Amino acid sequence: MEQQFNVLVSDDISEKGIELLEQEPGIHVDVKTKLTREELYAIIANYDGLVTRSMTTVDQELLDHTSGRLRVVGRAGVGLDNVDVEAASKKGIVVLNTPTGNTLAATEHTMAMLLAACRMIPKAHNTLVGGKWDRKSFMGFELYKRKLGVIGLGRIGSQVARRARGFEMDVYAYDPYILKDKAEALGVKLLGSLDELLRTVDVITLHTPRTPETLGMIGKRELELLPDGAIVVNVARGGLINEKDLHDALKSGKLRAAAVDVFDKEPATDNILLGLDNVIVTPHLGANTDASQINVAVMVAQQVINVLKDRDYEGA
Ligand code: MLT
Repeated sequence: MEQQFNVLVSDDISEKGIELLEQEPGIHVDVKTKLTREELYAIIANYDGLVTRSMTTVDQELLDHTSGRLRVVGRAGVGLDNVDVEAASKKGIVVLNTPTGNTLAATEHTMAMLLAACRMIPKAHNTLVGGKWDRKSFMGFELYKRKLGVIGLGRIGSQVARRARGFEMDVYAYDPYILKDKAEALGVKLLGSLDELLRTVDVITLHTPRTPETLGMIGKRELELLPDGAIVVNVARGGLINEKDLHDALKSGKLRAAAVDVFDKEPATDNILLGLDNVIVTPHLGANTDASQINVAVMVAQQVINVLKDRDYEGA
């Protein structure tokens, strides 16, 4: 008789991924989202696989409730900040992510946020629907021939660079892990240090993971290096920019605007940035498109099946 495996899907993922799991012989799937920590602790020992997005924190405490049965944690997305990969690995649990599944969604959201910040679209929208025809307050910032600094020229950063070139921006990048040739092939000038990049460009956009190396990489000192009136975009990860320092730079007028999709603590409904006039915020929507959510759900489901069925898989 075929071995049976139980998989818990604890965050909302596309139905396509759930269908794939359900159709696999020997896999039983439970979709239980919005569980409290206590509810999750009470049931996790019944599962061989766990599929999450960003709402389930897989930390030591949760792992302590698994009683050795859990074999795989799959994250439908790129970032693994909500999974303690080291603690999971110590227990022999495979951790998977889907690094390519939402590249274009994050790229397009970055461009949307940048353009919205340049033209203050949400504020102009609110003014008009509030009954005011105000054209004077919304003088925009043109991207043509402006200098964009891409921090992290990986999958998403590269795609953002390509699109910015389409707007005829001059694109610069800082990424200690990327070769000059790769940057040049994208029409991007790779600079040798973050400080040099900040001194050079008019707009920065961050595309790095959140690691001990990148945490707080943009603070008061770094923001000071930007020219007055610069724009900052972060659709990557909360914590890369010091939020208090960003707040102060926006409030003082050092920065013209910021567009922020990710926050130190999420949900970020009482974040310090929310009260500012020159900031545009979205609730971590970078990966939220139909296409990318299908991609990541199908990819993670397939990988979880592969682990449970002892087939080839790619670990995170
Ligand atoms: C990611 O890491 O890919 C995204 O944050 C995924 C998500 O929005 O859930």
